[in-house]
Amino acid sequence: MGTAYQPLHPHNQKPATKNPGCFLSKAVCAWLACGFLSLALLHLLCCSPAGTQQAVFSPLHQYINNTYSFVSSVPVEGRSCNYSVGDWVWAPGYGRRYNATECNAKESHDCIRNGRPDTRYLDWRWQPAAGCPLPAFDAGAFLTAVHGKHVAFIGDSMARNQAQSLICLLSTSFPYRLLYRDEGQLGKYKFWRYAFPAHDVKVSYYWNPFLVKATGKSEDETIRDNHVHLDKPGDRWAADADTFDVVVLGAAHWLLNGAIYYNGSEVIGAHNAPAELNYTGVGYAWPLKMAYRTSVERLRSSARPRTLVLATFSMSHFEGKATDDPTSCTKTEPYKDGEKDNEWVYREVRDIVYDEAEAARARSGENSTVRIEVLDVSKLASLRPDGHPGLYMRPNPFANGVPERMYSDCLHFCLPGPVDTFNEILLQILRKKR
Ligand SMILES: *[C@@H]1O[C@H](CO)[C@@H](O)[C@H](O)[C@H]1NC(C)=O
Ligand SMILES: *[C@@H]1O[C@H](CO)[C@@H](O)[C@H](O)[C@H]1NC(C)=O
Ligand SMILES: *[C@@H]1O[C@H](CO)[C@@H](O)[C@H](O)[C@H]1NC(C)=O
Ligand SMILES: *[C@@H]1O[C@H](CO)[C@@H](O)[C@H](O)[C@H]1NC(C)=O
Ligand SMILES: *[C@@H]1O[C@H](CO)[C@@H](O)[C@H](O)[C@H]1NC(C)=O
Ligand SMILES: *[C@@H]1O[C@H](CO)[C@@H](O)[C@H](O)[C@H]1NC(C)=O
Repeated sequence: MGTAYQPLHPHNQKPATKNPGCFLSKAVCAWLACGFLSLALLHLLCCSPAGTQQAVFSPLHQYINNTYSFVSSVPVEGRSCNYSVGDWVWAPGYGRRYNATECNAKESHDCIRNGRPDTRYLDWRWQPAAGCPLPAFDAGAFLTAVHGKHVAFIGDSMARNQAQSLICLLSTSFPYRLLYRDEGQLGKYKFWRYAFPAHDVKVSYYWNPFLVKATGKSEDETIRDNHVHLDKPGDRWAADADTFDVVVLGAAHWLLNGAIYYNGSEVIGAHNAPAELNYTGVGYAWPLKMAYRTSVERLRSSARPRTLVLATFSMSHFEGKATDDPTSCTKTEPYKDGEKDNEWVYREVRDIVYDEAEAARARSGENSTVRIEVLDVSKLASLRPDGHPGLYMRPNPFANGVPERMYSDCLHFCLPGPVDTFNEILLQILRKKR
């Protein structure tokens, strides 16, 4: 069977076939493997007129300005909006928020630069249920909300996708400076920090796909296994933790895929490890809980008032196909609500995040200076199979004709793209009074 699910590896464009195990229940695996296959719209992708891309994108500033005409109003005082449920509605130009080449986006997420010809994925707006308004991203409002603060994103490549989106959204309106970016063995997108000097704001990203301390594959792709210490926060972010004011935690994909888990020096079990190693299977749910718990506890146990934001799972859309099947995410429209029941794919993971947030709030007590929030993007992300780079994770994938096997990115979102909405919701969370 094709690999039902694989997190993307940071700088590996080859299909990951080494460990094709399923992490979900048998029923889910069977569904993913045999179930719904989206129609290949490959011919549409490859045969659009060459001029389309430029024509669509040149009036970038006009689109950015137009964006603001969609703003209804900020939520009415006292009314609490649930941004996690809703629908994507047609809004031409709404998603054309920036030029990702100008904000140092990871090349593989810069779909426009890579020649993706259909740009309808930029023409949708997330409309929360019950007519609740979600204002377009406002860079000034964001920087004002975090004036003098350090915003840190910790987690996997989806957390990075959101962090990068934030940099792009802010940098279209305000000058910024790269403070550091690791160019070492781990690649140049693993650890970085930008400053927005006009508001004395810093935004950092920490590559910690398990949140907690891990060695092995997450540090060096030539290593097969991950060794994950569920009792210890990630070294590098933990060292800086006392400087964080806002922290966004986002991880699940690597935990779903599995690792060998430790408490102290003792192995407590594994998920998806080779059977001949005889580890006790612990599934993915418990390690996921523990990884969040250890991280949240480290961040909660601080005198510094801060906001912890736990982002929920953003599922991939390989649609049951192999990751190197060039037709695995070629849809060009969002799913309509109810068109496809995806909820069971992400629900369990999302619920764990809600539970951990709730448990942490209970441990903190009502007078805690640490605010704990959930950024629930699971549903809105699940409806956007069209928003991924797909084959356009590399420049001009059809340069040598239509490939038979080629790796698609059906996990991250294009920049600009649906992930910008995560930051629109993050802004509302940060502006909300406690
Ligand atoms: C984006 O910016 C780059 C670098 O400034 C430029 O070369 C490119 O033409 C721009 N793309 C679009 C679609 O405007
Ligand atoms: C966008 O808005 C800015 C500020 O109001 C204005 O200076 C600029 O000319 C506008 N651009 C377009 C293309 O309308
Ligand atoms: C928002 O809606 C989702 C889905 O119905 C629900 O799980 C969640 O608890 C709601 N959040 C709040 C804060 O009410
Ligand atoms: C690790 O072991 C300690 C001591 O037995 C225990 O309190 C803790 O809950 C364990 N942590 C995990 C993640 O299993
Ligand atoms: C796993 O268990 C089998 C059967 O008990 C044994 O033969 C084998 O040596 C064990 N492997 C390891 C790595 O301990
Ligand atoms: C929280 O603070 C309020 C007001 O200072 C106080 O009355 C209340 O007892 C505190 N609650 C707890 C659980 O400490």
